[in-house]
Amino acid sequence: MPHILDGKKIAQKLKDQLKIEIEGIKIKCNLVPGLAVIQVGNVAASSVYVKAKTKAAKEVGINVIDHHLEESINQNDLINLINQLNNNDDVNGILVQLPLPKSINEEVVLNSIEPKKDADGFHPLNVGKLSINQKNDESLMIPCTPYGCLLLLRELNINLAGKNAVVIGRSNIVGKPMAQLLLKESCTVTTVHSKTINIESICKKADILIAAIGKPEFVNKDWVKKGAIVIDVGINRIKINEEKSKLVGDVLFSEVENIVYAISPVPGGVGPMTIACLLRNTTIAFKNSNKI
Ligand code: GUN
Repeated sequence: MPHILDGKKIAQKLKDQLKIEIEGIKIKCNLVPGLAVIQVGNVAASSVYVKAKTKAAKEVGINVIDHHLEESINQNDLINLINQLNNNDDVNGILVQLPLPKSINEEVVLNSIEPKKDADGFHPLNVGKLSINQKNDESLMIPCTPYGCLLLLRELNINLAGKNAVVIGRSNIVGKPMAQLLLKESCTVTTVHSKTINIESICKKADILIAAIGKPEFVNKDWVKKGAIVIDVGINRIKINEEKSKLVGDVLFSEVENIVYAISPVPGGVGPMTIACLLRNTTIAFKNSNKI
């Protein structure tokens, strides 16, 4: 039987720890972390994620400041709002839910967030720190989804050093920072993507396979080595029939679970970890800014 990496349970443990820490600081200093969450437009998946992030943040004692903006907002107005939040001492973390509407330059917007308030770890300064800093990760703002994947791997209590890790996908949100984190763990890291030749045979050699491609159940048993560890980052909604749909990952779980050492399910794997790591980043930013 494979180890099923229960992200819901592990995320809950992390949230419980953060809640206790935040309560302690509140009693001692009469301060709580503040997180500004910005959503532009009404992409359905973004609304689901923002709701889940807001709920979880409130549960651990973070003060959430919601900004749901019209899709038609112009870039300068969005940047003006971010500047106000940058200058507001009650706000420790700023999150701009992606994707943004096509009319807005995502890079410019993300670069306008004060790096020390960058709850997603997407600012170039934090991206750079992640690639340079080879020591502890306790004070770094690390992109939430890949850090959540790493915490899932750490739950297995195995030595990651020297393992052959393959990351499928090269996005700024998941693939690239995931590769950096695995490199920090001394894995031998390969990133494969849509233009990779012989992608399946490269994946089949992986001790650790991270699937972040956004294609439902794309990775089947022919891509996976016996005894591998598989982390499924995909969250894809597929139709079962006219009325019903369900969430599936990028991995064909029913087939792959029979050959792996460990696998993360969808839902209940990486998703809850992403949210817990956002709360972690916000708490770190809060402690850094108040010198706690
Ligand atoms: N869209 C998909 N994943 C993420 C994420 O981790 N953070 C933000 N801000 N937007 C996303």
